[in-house]
Amino acid sequence: MQHPLFDRLAAAGQQHVLAHYPALTPAARRQLDQQLATLDLDLLARLVREEHEAPDWAALARRATSPPAIELAGRATGPITPEAARRAGAAALRAGQVGAILVAGGQGTRLGFAHPKGMFPLGPVSGRTLFQILIEKVVATSRRYGAPVPLYVMTSPVTHDETTTFLAAHHHFGMPTGQLRIFCQGTMPAVDAQTGRLLLARKDSLALAPDGHGGMLAALDNSGLLEDARERGVGYFSYVQIDNPLAMLCDPELLGYHCLARSEMTTQVVRKSDPHEKVGNVVMVDGKLRIIEYSDLPDDVAQRRNPDGSLCVWAGSIAVHVFDREFLDRIAHQADALPFHLARKKTPFVDEGGVAREPTAPNAIKFERFIFDLLPWARNALVVEGRAAEVFAPVKNADGAASDTPTTARRAMVALFTQWLRQAGATVVEDTPVEISPLWALDAAQVAQRLAQSPPARTIDQPTYFHE
Ligand code: UTP
Repeated sequence: MQHPLFDRLAAAGQQHVLAHYPALTPAARRQLDQQLATLDLDLLARLVREEHEAPDWAALARRATSPPAIELAGRATGPITPEAARRAGAAALRAGQVGAILVAGGQGTRLGFAHPKGMFPLGPVSGRTLFQILIEKVVATSRRYGAPVPLYVMTSPVTHDETTTFLAAHHHFGMPTGQLRIFCQGTMPAVDAQTGRLLLARKDSLALAPDGHGGMLAALDNSGLLEDARERGVGYFSYVQIDNPLAMLCDPELLGYHCLARSEMTTQVVRKSDPHEKVGNVVMVDGKLRIIEYSDLPDDVAQRRNPDGSLCVWAGSIAVHVFDREFLDRIAHQADALPFHLARKKTPFVDEGGVAREPTAPNAIKFERFIFDLLPWARNALVVEGRAAEVFAPVKNADGAASDTPTTARRAMVALFTQWLRQAGATVVEDTPVEISPLWALDAAQVAQRLAQSPPARTIDQPTYFHE
């Protein structure tokens, strides 16, 4: 008997995905049926057709100018002082108006860790996982301001089950019951780069991949959690990614700039030290803020300098944002808000003869949405500079790579914690690893308070983990 979807698949030139169907078990058929039922064949056809119609990034970049930003150097003279921002952010936190979003649905292929990246033991002394490091910041913030901070953790089908089990086994690292909600993002099928035909990962499954961190928008909405946030009185979301242990989740100052500027989306950046640093570049193009990926930035634009020698394209994105909840509500229902980006990747697949293939070169196109593409849609979108050493230590690559590895991230954490301790009067002997749990101190000022309560002239010459 012909499969009920055969005609539709055939019309789209995708009937080959049923090649092994007759030999599948009933359970395997059900799985493939479920995947096929949710396929948007028209969208796929359009994306493949439009592959060569991607924006002309080089032309866009040549029109790009420096984004208006609250910069470290000029802060005190800006329209909003850091003190005023911190007061406004603290007021929003005390009023329970802030929720946190942590996206952890990526495949983490470059790190090469066999579990979700959030389970990676990163703590330089404690061995705490990335999940614990970031979730403790939310718990500590909620305690400091005496108000709940609900945390929304995004997983994907790749990371969901293991993440859920792991977080439950660790009692959600101290998050009060009901305050941590997990939601799963969607997937997009991979297609053959030459033919646009769907790839099978196994005889009973399409090759599916998470639909990018931009999938957060639809997933938060579809899971009912935007509504959940509204019911809890959340007006602002602090958004970070699982791969940055220094990310300032729920930072009152960043939240305060956002509130006082009546911005719908605020993004934190760091000043690039190298024109070709591997970060997205926040720029103004035609009156709108947007991010141009490092791979799309032409060399001559990357190298442009101001008369004082500083880079024109200076603002590197660190994927730390603040969103108005109402902005996400509005934009979630706008179909074209987040375009798909296409990436060529090596993707194993099963061919029509049923043989498993392990390509040695990129063979597939994957489709991903990026959350930063919301920037041009936001009213009063705002850019705020942070110090890289205080806010950014990405974990992307396995140790051995030149940058963004567990080793470089641990080094950055130890350097920051050493600085906090020394500022508070402690002596930290050179090359002594130190680590601070947010539950012990969230910032340098709290370290000073803690040390003031313990005997003075403290010398640290052994690896030390400061925690509750
Ligand atoms: P990256 O794009 O760096 O991907 O994600 P990745 O999964 O960490 O690593 P590679 O590229 O496979 O090596 C940046 C952040 O966005 C999240 C990741 O979990 C990470 O926190 N992300 C990415 C998602 O939540 N979903 C996605 O579909 C993609």
